Order: sequence, then C-alpha cells, then structure tokens
Amino acid sequence: MSVLKDLVRLGYSRSWVVDKYATVGLWPSEDWACTTFWPAGSRILDLGCGAGRTTIPLAQKAYQITGADLALPMVHKAYQQAKTWHVNATWAVVDGTDLPFSEGSFAGVLFSYNGIELVPRTEGKSRVLSEAWRVLKPGGHLIFTTHALEAFNQYLPIRLRRLVRFLYLRARRKPMPEMEVGEVIHDSRKNFEVYYMQIISPRTYRKLLAQTGFELVYYNSRQRLESGKSPSWYTDFDADFKFYVAQKPALQ
Ligand SMILES: C[S@@+](CC[C@H](N)C(=O)[O-])C[C@H]1O[C@@H](n2cnc3c(N)ncnc32)[C@H](O)[C@@H]1O
Repeated sequence: MSVLKDLVRLGYSRSWVVDKYATVGLWPSEDWACTTFWPAGSRILDLGCGAGRTTIPLAQKAYQITGADLALPMVHKAYQQAKTWHVNATWAVVDGTDLPFSEGSFAGVLFSYNGIELVPRTEGKSRVLSEAWRVLKPGGHLIFTTHALEAFNQYLPIRLRRLVRFLYLRARRKPMPEMEVGEVIHDSRKNFEVYYMQIISPRTYRKLLAQTGFELVYYNSRQRLESGKSPSWYTDFDADFKFYVAQKPALQ
C-alpha cells in the first residue's frame, strides 16, 4: 500500500498539477454543506486541501481552519495562496490514514473533490473514515465527495472494460497491477494527472461509514444538490459526483 501512496504523493507533487489546483473558491454545494452543518467559527480540518481551493474561502468565513495534505508542494502552494489572500490558517503535511491530531479536535472534517479515492484500497478508505471519526468531536460532521462505479456518464464504458479485464485476469490468475475492483494505476513515466485512484460504489461508502459509527445525514449528487433537487433512488447512478455528510453521533 505504501508504494501506491508514494505514487499518489509523487503525482500530486508535480508543479503542473499543483498549479492546476491553485484556484480558490467553494462549489455552491460545498458552501451549503459546510455552512449548514458546521457551527460558525468552529475548528475544521480540510484534509487533502491541495493548493487551498477550499481552505482559503473557509478561513474567510471565519472558521479556524487547518489545511492538511499528503503532498508537501500542495501545502506550500496553499500557504503562499493564503498569504496572498490575507487569511489565517494552520498547515500540515499528513496522511489521512494516520492523522497527527488528538481525539475530538475538530467540529468538521472536509475531504473534498474526491480526494478519498486517491487513498489506496478499500481498507485505506476505511482507515481515513476511522481517523476522521476519531478527530471529530461528538456531533461533528465529515463532508466528502466521490465518483461512483455505477454512474451513467461518458466514463461508464471505460469502467466496464476495466472491470471485465480485471475479472478476466483474476480468473486466469494472470499478473495485474490492480488488486481491487475500481483501481486505476497509470505508469508514472507518463504524464497523467492521476497515477492511482480507485472508484468504488457509493453503497460501499455507506457501508464503511456505518461500520465506522457514522450516521449519513445527507447524501445526494452534486448536480441535484446544486439544482435544488432532493436525493432520489437514482442518485447512485447520476453522472455527477456524490456528496456525503456524515455525523459522529453526539451521544457516545
Ligand atoms: C483531487 S486533489 C483535490 C485538492 C483540493 N481538495 C481541491 O479541491 O482543490 C486531492 C488531494 O488529496 C491529496 N491526498 C491524496 N491522498 C491523501 C492522503 N492519504 N492524505 C491526505 N491527502 C491526500 C492529494 O495530495 C491532493 O492534493
């Protein structure tokens, strides 16, 4: 797993990738979720903060924000951007599967823009959820987004082809870089933005959240949320990102 993590770190440390993420601004859905579920002025962890796209506007909204990312160049860029925007934030280079913060330190945790899919293996994703649960105060909320394995969009044929190849190679016991369904591993000598990611089903995330002890208090697609539509049975298949708000129960 550490080889895959190094691949992710390497991918997100390249200057053109860092520059690509150096925009600032919350999506309307993020703005709604953060201000609805996090008390004003509370302490928030922006995990996988990248170059500060969400950290800076959240600091402007007077949250006490910590921006944290696996890739040092991302954190450095975020720090520089925060100086340009004259906002206060605390910064850290961290791995979301092993956070250096004590239990109950934050009222909210954000892992935006599908960052959790860069954490290798389902087990790694589960550890991120456990770590988010640990550092949240009782009653605190975790907000994150993902793609979906079953989404009806232009990438569905590619995902289906990968799935068939994966099942075929596994059945024939042939060598394959991927070990789990939904993994994508690109050759790091090539110039892909993403060297490793894993797209799994929202059903799996719901299961992992429940196993961790979270209550899923809001779930919808970004598109439906931003166009004012309620969640529906179709949300898992919706083309757009999935939006999860999960609460650590207030009474333990
Ligand atoms: C798709 S980028 C999104 C960046 C930022 N949240 C944004 O919306 O612009 C995902 C970020 O997650 C970070 N990341 C990946 N794995 C991580 C991990 N295990 N712990 C912390 N951050 C991680 C990457 O370095 C990258 O900066």
